[in-house]
Amino acid sequence: METQKTILITAGPTREKIDAVRFITNRSTGKMGYALAKAAVNQNFRVILISGVTNLPKVDGTEFIQIESAAEMAEVVKKYADSADFIIMSAAVADYRPKFVHANKMKKTDGDLTLILERTEDILKYLGENKKPNQLLIGFAAETDDLIANAKGKLERKNLDYIIANDVSKSDRGFGSDNNAVTILKRDGSREDINLLDKSALAEILITKICGN
Ligand code: CTP
Repeated sequence: METQKTILITAGPTREKIDAVRFITNRSTGKMGYALAKAAVNQNFRVILISGVTNLPKVDGTEFIQIESAAEMAEVVKKYADSADFIIMSAAVADYRPKFVHANKMKKTDGDLTLILERTEDILKYLGENKKPNQLLIGFAAETDDLIANAKGKLERKNLDYIIANDVSKSDRGFGSDNNAVTILKRDGSREDINLLDKSALAEILITKICGN
């Protein structure tokens, strides 16, 4: 019998605290990542699902870890990365966080408020620089402009094996939608378009194509 392979999947948005009651986040709902986790369980992989806060029920059969911020996600991903044969970063990780977090609720004043944001760690870039032999690294590129060129740039800069390019400028797909259409770009320059499908069906295809034998 073949040994069971492990897929680490990240999903959903991150939350970056401003103060005790406020945070910065994004429109990711986690649907694509959770669909990937479900498809991977269906296809008999060991699945570690590291998720931001979503409204979705946990996916049965996964090792589920809940995080909030990009820094928490980075810490947990690094902890589990060595045990993964495949890492799929479908989470919408914040690129910036408030530089100063107020422990209490901030009180308003009459004037404007300026928030200073600092960069978060690029988790996928770190994984690309510390890739284990035979490990495959898969990123997502959510773009509104120049989809393929931007996705290719990310694949190269982050030393990925695949990038799933996702057009988020249309309301019938991507963030929040039940459907998605993507282009899979491979390291060797080849590409494959997958037309608009239900996210569960799309996830089954992606797991088969990328993680199958
Ligand atoms: N990602 C990550 N760590 C971050 C930000 C993003 O691991 N701090 C991952 C995402 O999970 C996704 C990919 O990197 O797989 C997205 O690439 P990125 O260049 O960060 O795209 P954007 O966040 O859309 O940023 P931009 O288009 O401004 O470069």
